[in-house]
Amino acid sequence: MFGVCYYPEHWQQSQWDQDAAMMAELGLTYVRIGEFAWSRLEPNPGDYDFGWLDAAVATLTHAGLKVVMGTPTATPPKWLIDQYPEILPVDPDTSRTRAFGSRRHYDFSSAVYLRESLRITEALAKRYGNHKGVVGWQTDNELCCHDTALSGSALARDAFQDWCQQHYTSIDKLNNDWGNVFWSMEYRDFNEIELPIGAVTETSPAHRLAYRRFSSHQVIAYHNPMVEMIRQHAPGKFITHNFIPMNETAVDNFALAAPLDFTSYDNYPLGRTDLLMTGAPADQLRRYMRTGHPDFATYYHDQTRGLLNRGFWVMEQQPGPVNWANNNPRPALGMIRFWTLEAFAHGADCVCYFRWRQAPFAQEQMHAGLLRPDNSKTEAWPEAEQAMAEVAALDIGNQLLQSASVAIITGAEGLWVSDIEKQGQAYDFNNVQLSYYSALRELGINVDFISVNSDFTPYSIIIAPSLPIVDQAFVDKCQTSTAQFIFGPRAGAKTSEFGYPISLPPGLLQQLIPIRILSVETLRADCMESLCWNKQQYQSGRWCEQIEAGESEVLARYDDGEPAVVRQDRTTYIGTLTNREFLLDFFQQYCRQANIQTFRFGEDIRVCQRGDLMFAFNYSDQPQELPLDSDISLLLGSSHIEPHGVTVWRASGS
Ligand code: GAL
Repeated sequence: MFGVCYYPEHWQQSQWDQDAAMMAELGLTYVRIGEFAWSRLEPNPGDYDFGWLDAAVATLTHAGLKVVMGTPTATPPKWLIDQYPEILPVDPDTSRTRAFGSRRHYDFSSAVYLRESLRITEALAKRYGNHKGVVGWQTDNELCCHDTALSGSALARDAFQDWCQQHYTSIDKLNNDWGNVFWSMEYRDFNEIELPIGAVTETSPAHRLAYRRFSSHQVIAYHNPMVEMIRQHAPGKFITHNFIPMNETAVDNFALAAPLDFTSYDNYPLGRTDLLMTGAPADQLRRYMRTGHPDFATYYHDQTRGLLNRGFWVMEQQPGPVNWANNNPRPALGMIRFWTLEAFAHGADCVCYFRWRQAPFAQEQMHAGLLRPDNSKTEAWPEAEQAMAEVAALDIGNQLLQSASVAIITGAEGLWVSDIEKQGQAYDFNNVQLSYYSALRELGINVDFISVNSDFTPYSIIIAPSLPIVDQAFVDKCQTSTAQFIFGPRAGAKTSEFGYPISLPPGLLQQLIPIRILSVETLRADCMESLCWNKQQYQSGRWCEQIEAGESEVLARYDDGEPAVVRQDRTTYIGTLTNREFLLDFFQQYCRQANIQTFRFGEDIRVCQRGDLMFAFNYSDQPQELPLDSDISLLLGSSHIEPHGVTVWRASGS
């Protein structure tokens, strides 16, 4: 299924009929509207104007389209901010109030804003909850985008003190858990606790971890009542939220997603590639600047699917150049179709393009749409048409999503630990996780992202690239599971309160693999050393743990012969940051041993399975030969895969 993001309030009403007719003609099913329209829905306090939205919904539904209604809470209007200036959040880095004039200018700790958000949400939900044409809802828009999860406001501080009191119950316990005797940081009362911002030098890591946990809790505490309000007035309608990249939310995304019917993701592969490859050598960026890096889009698709372990939507799909990265290239021809098929292959149930028509005004006037401001069709139009025909012909939407054999354990705490304590420039949660994912994807392996609380039974191999905090329940689960576990460096290296395990890292994981990490060294990127595994040399050196292996088997060694990768029964521990070649070879061997099929078709080819369809995507601007068996049942394309082409075949016989 397909849809589009539309802003009726941006256009003359006389335009709406034609827009709706063209959307239907293109074959779209869904139109998402409303998510920034508060100033039009309530131009003055309490003075609602639903007339225009009634008319827009009527126009769209009359054309046979189904409406997804967005709640407008990402954009509180000026009068509301003037009435209650405390709604504005405070930037924790600068301690400056973040002003009105763009979006997301609200503080998750503002009780007034929660009340106002519920009020506008209720008004909308009451009006459209039972409307036949409004089939589902999107809460807010991209919660926490623009670094808004954390606020340094007085409201946040007060709420943090309450949270600490509930969480730690006594100030002595908090002092003890945080190690506040260090540098005389002890408190006599919860009301003495400040946010860990603005201090002379490093604040306590436990204090910062608590602030992250608290901030995540505040986002969820703001969002959940909104979902409940919509449920109450819109029975039977779906509720979703459009997530930003999971590593940018600063929130426990599994908890945030819990009350939703399904998750959605906003997919901007070129913008992401430009931002994530800032500083990469030109030849590396150039290779992917018009296609996106082969793993960036699916990294987030797979994570979005994993949050609820079911099909997801791409609520916004980049249709051309965006306006917000450092540089904003045009997609290579064919990429809109390519990204669309790719999303479906990774479990999307619907792809909506952002946006219908490029706006000739305001912040996003340089952002492409399916139409230009003069109503001419952009290159995205015929590509979307092609993708729709192909998705229908392949009947992808009805292909069941099966569990992968390999899972990656992800979670916000690993990210927080890596943000809070760097120790070396190289260690970054997202880079570590992405490098593991990328290697698995280059081997053509389907990957599920799971949490420590997920069901482990479907998986033969469970990989935790960055899991510094574990609890006994997790260890017990590993012990009863039959999977192979592979832990990346730093696993189990912190207690739940950001302490150093007295038994030494990997702490509680010593029950799975009785090793001791004696020390960690981190080196500059240009001082790389190496690692020897299976008689081959690979890179190592940016993060190296000194491992006392005990009785464990040593699989790989550093230059000096000391253990770098060790195994005990079903548990493997990688004590270093290494390189792509190592991860590829290493994971390939584990997959072979577990009878998991791998496809090593080259750096720019990605293979993915959905139901009994196998997909190959060629990210390169050169044709490639896929070494497929001759008796294979090809459904789309051929084994000679075109530049930026897609080939699909039936899984049986592959
Ligand atoms: C998204 C956002 C949209 C729009 C778009 C531009 O992150 O949800 O409202 O700003 O980016 O690419």
